[in-house]
Amino acid sequence: MKGIVLAGGTATRLFPLTIVTNKHLLPIYDRPMIYYPIETLAGMGIREVLVIVGGKSVGDVVELLADGSHFGLDLTYRYQHGALGIAHAIGLARDFVGDDAFCCVLGDNILRGPALAPVAEEFEAGPWGAGTLLYRVSDPERFGVAELDGAGNVVAFEEKPVRPKSDLIPIGVYFLRPDAFTVIDSLAPSGRGEFEITDVLNHYVPEGRLFHRIYDGHWTDAGTVPSLIRAAELARDDDRAGRLARPVERPVG
Ligand code: DAU
Repeated sequence: MKGIVLAGGTATRLFPLTIVTNKHLLPIYDRPMIYYPIETLAGMGIREVLVIVGGKSVGDVVELLADGSHFGLDLTYRYQHGALGIAHAIGLARDFVGDDAFCCVLGDNILRGPALAPVAEEFEAGPWGAGTLLYRVSDPERFGVAELDGAGNVVAFEEKPVRPKSDLIPIGVYFLRPDAFTVIDSLAPSGRGEFEITDVLNHYVPEGRLFHRIYDGHWTDAGTVPSLIRAAELARDDDRAGRLARPVERPVG
């Protein structure tokens, strides 16, 4: 399985913090934000990772992560012009992905919990076209929201609904296969002008090929000031419990 981290976007919800720098370089406790999704993919046993960069300070992101060898990874980069949405950014990975299944992690998603290697293996070995992890939150209207039937199957995802149909949201971990690129090609932009990942996931629901698992660790995004603080608290709590390894350092020079 290959990996993708999305580190584009404009991060206007964090202005003025992100007027002149890339959100994914902001500190979360003892390391830059982008370390967390990189470590999430490394924890799945994934070695080949594409980082989609865009917005501010793209060169600094590349300088920080370099070739990825200090993470035990082989990193490559692609530039996203504009912030046309998560599905658009994933669409830039077509050549990198080739014929492989892949996992995309959003660059501002902080997961603190069990490694996801078993979940990635389950998706890859199964008949599913796409998959994600669900997490219960108190403010689902800020995210994509899952609608479930009585048997616990996802019926649909809705992006930032005014009246959420549940408090379960798809977090920014997506398992996909190359046919997702055909789905992305067929999408129209949403009301907010973005190509939405929830529209990609919804494509697989009627076919019964959508995979989901409830994430049983701690999760937050870090795209707003309160969630940025929450992310640092999660890392701090893990550090106090002895569950946070020291951040790796890029060799200087
Ligand atoms: O965090 C989980 C949520 O992430 C999901 O529940 C939603 O369904 C999903 O749409 C997304 O919602 P957000 O509105 O929080 O996404 P945001 O625009 O903050 O972008 C998330 C990450 O993706 C961020 O780290 C930047 C990157 N990104 C975003 C866009 C729009 C890109 O690389 N390119 C883009 O064009």
